[in-house]
Parts: sequence; structure tokens; C-alpha cells
Amino acid sequence: MAATLLAFFFLFIIVCFFLQIHRKKPGTKSITTLFGKCIITCRGDEAKWLRKMMLPYLGPDALSNRYSVTMDVVTRLHIQNHWEGRNEVKVFNTVKLYLFELACPTSNNLPPGSFGWPFLGETLEFIRSQTDGTPERFVRERVERYGSPLVFKTSLLGHPTAIFSGPEGNKFLFGNENKLVAMWLPEAVGRLFGNRCLNTTRGDEAKWLRKTMLPCLGPDALSNRYCIAMDEVTRLHIQSQWEGRSEVTVFDTVKPYLFELACRLFLNLDDPRRVTELGSLFNTFLKGLGSLPIDIPGTQFYRGKRAAIAIKKQLIMIINQRKLTLKQENASSFEDLLSHLLLNSDENGQFLSEMEIANNILLLLFAGHDTSAVSITLLMKCLGEHPDVYKNVLKEQLGILEGKAPGEVLNWEDIQKMRYSWNVVCEVLRLNPPVIGSFREALVDFEYAGYTIPKGWKCTHDTKGRR
Ligand code: HEM
Repeated sequence: MAATLLAFFFLFIIVCFFLQIHRKKPGTKSITTLFGKCIITCRGDEAKWLRKMMLPYLGPDALSNRYSVTMDVVTRLHIQNHWEGRNEVKVFNTVKLYLFELACPTSNNLPPGSFGWPFLGETLEFIRSQTDGTPERFVRERVERYGSPLVFKTSLLGHPTAIFSGPEGNKFLFGNENKLVAMWLPEAVGRLFGNRCLNTTRGDEAKWLRKTMLPCLGPDALSNRYCIAMDEVTRLHIQSQWEGRSEVTVFDTVKPYLFELACRLFLNLDDPRRVTELGSLFNTFLKGLGSLPIDIPGTQFYRGKRAAIAIKKQLIMIINQRKLTLKQENASSFEDLLSHLLLNSDENGQFLSEMEIANNILLLLFAGHDTSAVSITLLMKCLGEHPDVYKNVLKEQLGILEGKAPGEVLNWEDIQKMRYSWNVVCEVLRLNPPVIGSFREALVDFEYAGYTIPKGWKCTHDTKGRR
């Protein structure tokens, strides 16, 4: 469609010029004076040469090789910004604006970079760098290629995207949440999590959700509610999976442990059969999330979607059971996230539906799972590589243990004494951030590092690319 409109536009301009040249009245400024020496005012060899020079930029080859991606990007953004969600559009004015955007895109001031292939953009290279274990490669190569250390442009999953590199970029994006940018997920991924979920809502609703969940996720929850259950699940895990073994594959071992812990803390679920069943669905869901969001049977993403539906079905059964229990018993006997979400309404007295609660629990299982599993694995690796640090951590832990009676569980005071261990964890996270980036959407045109990031562009930070 864009190509046809563009062709009409140029045709229209050429016809106007032609009429103007042949209608020259006395007193009217000649078209030659207006334009000076250019393709429509030259004749003979000079005109031929100019035409030859311009042809590569105006003919069908240019359309297929040079312009298709830019046209695709400008058209998408234009539709998103001027058509989507509107009941009425002034077609002539809007199309005129669109054609202007197309003929002189603001690209003069866009960050350097490449949009890659039409639609696919540079998505495959981006995903490849994640799956081959060098997620920083994608960013590092481009930062070097374009000589722009703070930001470069690319196209991911069909969207023009600005990649903000380094700590300044992180700070900028996180510091401008809901001002210049807002949380964004590819549509298909957002559908996996569902409505009224922390990562699919914006503005006041997101604020309310955060406020509602905080009592179950902040340090108070850790100190008052979770310590005992964490101690119990961790002891059993160490006894069954670590003790007496000369070798342990840390990542594979801690994953089921963390899932079991999350089920216990958020849902008070400790039936091993149900936890294992949910855990296996959850792994399929995670693989789907990490794949290209192509929602057709046979793809990993499709299997991930089916798994998300099955998990939510089980969560809804658990939620309904809990509702019955809460009706029959004292509410305070179940002080976990699930009860908290069932018992708390927003300022209009509206409660989250069963599905919305399931959506948010699935998000929390996801948010806390791989991040924690990767962090523990990297911590073990670093301790193995630095025996002196390991010795100090062990000394601190044994010191805390000495002050406790046999069988006495861990408490908040004990955790606060773990200063050296905590610093080691922070340093491991600083050197190996487990989250390498997340997406935002530009809410308005804004400037960064001297470049314009247009409204509607997706933005992502990169924690590993430039250090
Ligand atoms: C070492 C472990 C963890 C790391 C490195 C980590 C990292 C992050 C990062 C970087 C974000 C910001 C994402 C963004 O806004 O784009 C985030 C958000 C979030 N994380 Fe974690 N996380 C960890 C553990 C957990 C755990 C255990 C939970 C809960 C069970 C959790 C729940 C959340 C939630 C709910 C959000 C969204 C917060 C919001 O939008 O306000 N995370 N995490």
C-alpha cells in the first residue's frame, strides 16, 4: 500500500511541475529560478547524467533493496500513532503527513544501525547470540561497527528498536518509566501472561498491582513469613540433592528446588506430585518464552502457550479450593500471596478475578525462577574459582550456625548477619547480571545521546554489552 501511495505522490508532484513549466505567465517566478539547477531544470547530457545518478535511488531496485524496510517501519509507526484505536481519522491530512514522513523520515537524526531484513530485521542474530551463550555479542559487535557506544538502532520481532548500551542506558530507561517509556512485551508474549498482570499493565493499574503485591514480596515478607518455609525446603533439598555427592550440576538441581520453594511460598502447595506436574509444564512454558513468538502448532512457542493454559487451569483449581477454605476458616491461617490477592481489593472495591490472580502468580513464578537459578549457579561457580572468598563465606555461615540451638531454624536476624556473604552475592550479580535486558515502548519522541528515538519505537537496555 505504501509503495502505491508513494508512487501516486511522486506522480502528482511531477505532473504539477510539468503544468507549472508550461503555464509560465508574465510576472510569475520561473520554476527554474525556484529550483535552480536540478533534474527538472536541466536538459541534454546534463539531465541524462543527473537521471543516471538518481536512478539507483528511485527505481524498483531501490524499492526492493533500500526502501522496503524503512517504508515498513514508517508505515507501521504511522498506523500505530495516527490510526490505531481511533474512531475517526481525517484521511487526507493523515495520508499527507504519512507521505511527508515517508519522503523525509526523521531518520537524519535516528541512532546509527541497521534494520536488517524486512520484517525479521536482526531478530535471528539477536536470538542466536542469546542461545549460543554470548548474549553480549550482539550489542558489542554493533557498538563497535557503528561507533556509537550509547545507543544504536535495529529491528527486532518486526519493530524498530533502540538498544541502549551500558549503565547510562539502564538508568535512563528505568528512570523514565511511565514518563518517556513504558513496559512493553511482544503481543504474543503478553497474551501468554494475560490481562491485569504486572507486566502487561501500565499506569495506575500497574501501580495498584505493585502496591498490592509488595507486602508478599518485600523484605518484611521475607522476615515475617517466609524464613521458616525457606529453611525447611532448603534443608530437605540439600539432604536429598547435595549431601554425599562428589559432583552436582548446579543449574539443573536448583531449578526444581526454586520451583518447589515458590509453590510453597506463594500458594502453600507442598504436594510433591502436583508440584512436579506443574514444574514440568512450567519448563515447557519457559522454553516457549525463550523462542521466537510464532504461534502455530509445532513451534516451541505454541507448546509454551498450551503449557501456560494448562498451568493457569491448575492454578484456578487451587484458587477455588483456597476460596472455599477461606470461607470456612480464619483468613489469617493462610498468609501467603494467594490469600493476600484473594482478600485485597482496589480502591473501588474491585477484586482480581481468578484468572487475573493466576496470571500474576504465573508471572511471579517466571520472574523469580530463572533469575534466581542463574544467580545461584553463578555464585557457586565464582566460589569455586575463588577459594579464598569461599573460605570467608563458609566461616561467616559456620559462625552463624554456632550461635543456634540444634535444629533451630533460620531467622531474619541470622540473615542480617550475613554481610560478607551478601556482598559476595552482590558482586556476582554485578559481574554477571542474570537479566540481560527487557523491553520498553517510547511513549513520545525523545532525545538520547543526541539522537531522536521516535514515539512507538521499542527500547531495550543491555546490561552486559559495554562495561
Ligand atoms: C537474582 C534474582 C533476580 C534478579 C536478578 C531479578 C531481576 C529483575 C529485573 C532486572 C527486573 C526489572 C525488569 C524490567 O522492569 O524490565 C525485575 C522485575 C521484577 N522481578 Fe525480579 N529479579 C530477581 C528475582 C526475583 C524474584 C525472586 C521475584 C519474585 C518471586 C522477582 C519478581 C519480580 C517482579 C514482580 C518484577 C516486576 C516488578 C515491576 O514491574 O514493578 N524477581 N527483576
